[in-house]
Amino acid sequence: LEKETVMVHFIMPDGSKQTAKTKVGENLLDIIVDNDIDIDGFGACEGTLACSTCHLIFSKEDYEKIKDKPTDEELDMLDLAYGLTDTSRLGCQVIVTKEMDGLVVKVPSGVADARNPS
Ligand code: FES
Repeated sequence: LEKETVMVHFIMPDGSKQTAKTKVGENLLDIIVDNDIDIDGFGACEGTLACSTCHLIFSKEDYEKIKDKPTDEELDMLDLAYGLTDTSRLGCQVIVTKEMDGLVVKVPSGVADARNPS
């Protein structure tokens, strides 16, 4: 059975929009990497929950559509993210589902790498 295609839109810090085509089951970090979407410092720990540079902001509606709720480890790491909101998640922990087709995610205007506090 062929995997279903999902479109995800990223609103960049400068307000421009990048659209990526992906498949159900990918995480948002992989989508950004695979589509060559260039976000400075993004995904520094390659999805091992050791940074917070993959921080993304969702609308309230989309946030609730995310099937996997954040683990304590993710929440601890999110606390260190730059510009944290109530609807923030770490991109590497969010798996795309069919329901998320057309998702619009906001890229924060800065990244903080928990491994290199400045
Ligand atoms: Fe480092 Fe997601 S890429 S926590």
